Amino acid sequence: MATRKFFVGGNWKMNGNKAEINGIIDFLSKGPLDPNVEVVVGVPAIYLDYSRSKLPRSIGVAAQNCYKVAKGAFTGENSSAMILDVGADWVILGHSERRNVFGENDELIGEKVRHALESGLSVIACIGETLDEREGGRTEEVVFRQTAAISKAIGQGSWEKVVLAYEPVWAIGTGKTASPEQAQEVHDQLRKWLAKEVSSDVSQKTRILYGGSVTAGNCKELAKKEDIDGFLVGGASLKPEFVNIINAKQ
Ligand code: 13P
Repeated sequence: MATRKFFVGGNWKMNGNKAEINGIIDFLSKGPLDPNVEVVVGVPAIYLDYSRSKLPRSIGVAAQNCYKVAKGAFTGENSSAMILDVGADWVILGHSERRNVFGENDELIGEKVRHALESGLSVIACIGETLDEREGGRTEEVVFRQTAAISKAIGQGSWEKVVLAYEPVWAIGTGKTASPEQAQEVHDQLRKWLAKEVSSDVSQKTRILYGGSVTAGNCKELAKKEDIDGFLVGGASLKPEFVNIINAKQ
């Protein structure tokens, strides 16, 4: 079986100012962080340059969104080229807040994923069902549809630069974490979907993160599940407990 390096992403969302970011950089620099874990923080675009210049090099920096073309008359948008230009290597795409608050659909997310990968960024691609969809028994249908749109954009080529993040919308910012069993079940289904629709190699090598109310208190149980290869952490990534979440496997 392929070994997948544990991956912990922090998504700061639209939070922080320089003073608060200095605090986060301070606790991340002090750690100590498990050296076997890949750590990436998702930073508001306006602070990407600042954060990249201050964070230890071992910690990756991600934008939280970017547009689907390199440049042009798209007021308010940022491009992959700009993200790379300030030294960040990653972008989070398809986050449920982009889908549900800003109306991004599967097609646009696919176009963004394709352009980001072609530009040389690595992508944290997010998927997840709403509460209505889960209660209606549609979880798999929804996450497979979202993954298919991402997969189509990737083709067979660049999966090694993609991390999938399963974030059930009902668990985001609500304090209602998916149980380790609930998360494992969806991760297992996603891995089987990748094996069938892409390749067994991609299925074995692609990291599938869980996101949604991950804390220092629940991360260890989640991390024990065989198909949970890390986390995408919102609120708790702004606090020193993020270090404990990074070290969940220890
Ligand atoms: P919370 O950890 O605050 O629930 O947010 C999860 C998330 O949306 C990470 O992208």
